[in-house]
Amino acid sequence: MPTPPMNVTVTGAGGQIGYTLVFRIASGALLGPTTPINLTLLEIPGGRAAAEGTALELQDCAFPLLRSVTVTEDPVRAFDGVSIALLVGSRPRAVGMERVALLESNGRIFGPQGLALNEGAASDVRVLVVGNPVNTNALVASAFAPDIPAERFTAMTRLDHNRGLGQLAARLGVPVPEIDGLTVWGNHSASQYPDVSHATAGGRPVSGLVDEAWLTGEFIPRVANRGYEIIQARGASSAASAASAAIDHVYDWVNGTGDRWTSAGVVSDGSYGVPEGLVCSFPVRGVDGRYEIVPNLSIDAFSRARIDNSVAELLEERAAVLSLGLLP
Ligand code: NAD
Ligand code: LMR
Repeated sequence: MPTPPMNVTVTGAGGQIGYTLVFRIASGALLGPTTPINLTLLEIPGGRAAAEGTALELQDCAFPLLRSVTVTEDPVRAFDGVSIALLVGSRPRAVGMERVALLESNGRIFGPQGLALNEGAASDVRVLVVGNPVNTNALVASAFAPDIPAERFTAMTRLDHNRGLGQLAARLGVPVPEIDGLTVWGNHSASQYPDVSHATAGGRPVSGLVDEAWLTGEFIPRVANRGYEIIQARGASSAASAASAAIDHVYDWVNGTGDRWTSAGVVSDGSYGVPEGLVCSFPVRGVDGRYEIVPNLSIDAFSRARIDNSVAELLEERAAVLSLGLLP
């Protein structure tokens, strides 16, 4: 029997991430080579023309899996029956800004979108927030969607995870697939903690292959500040790598990770001392269509302090959106 089509919605589809993301989705990279896709592109008036143009190009690609493309400015229409919602639409930061500076302007986008998801999304909906600051925007969207289980709202830290893999592979001179057990903890911000204490390369502990000075002086700050490095180099925030990470995040969520693990911003169940309800990056495995936090990892004192520091920032962001009236 043929696989039924899945409804996928991308917000901000007229923007720079959208322009690379939608072609990967339509090619089958998001859901695999047998799942047809109905794609909806949500924009605001300023981005509509770009989204319409992108829709023309999608048609011109003649992707075998792409059944339909709809462009709309109406969130209720965009999320009606949606199974995969990629919430990209929001302002990126520029040179000289921290992502948290976007909290108020971008935070206002995610409440109404949470409401619209609550109203019409399919019962199997999975939501990935890409728009910054991702963890707290996911928290806001989820808070406005009480009928959707909170675990279906996730925030993208897969780009940080992939950045860490890229740095380790280059340093150790090994192919990326040989590295396992890397974790990005905390907030998608400069306070995040890329943790190699359980990582292996070709089955050998990474901690025995690199020196401490490189880990603390180069690896951790480089990964944590890579978004800013890209902005300075390109004059615009990361786009193709962000789209690629979004594809990886959803693909692993739907298809599973097997024994390996990855990193994702998921709602905390209190694991590792992270207050329940915060959307925090954890080590996760994709299991039976769900992201599960990898349990029982030992956390040394260095890691504990770094995780606590990033979680403190998440608590501050939650307090900030609360005081701005962005939570219901
Ligand atoms: P962009 O400015 O190129 O595109 C954003 C698009 O969103 C624009 O076309 C705009 O019209 C649209 N938009 C704005 N408000 C909207 C709304 N309410 N509904 C629908 N569409 C709306 O920006 P970009 O470079 O594509 O980045 C988008 C977001 O992704 C930014 O917040 C950026 O910081 C973030 N980002 C996150 C990661 C990550 O790792 N989590 C990586 C890169 C970028
Ligand atoms: C990134 O990590 O590349 C994005 O979050 C964009 C940014 O503002 O750094």
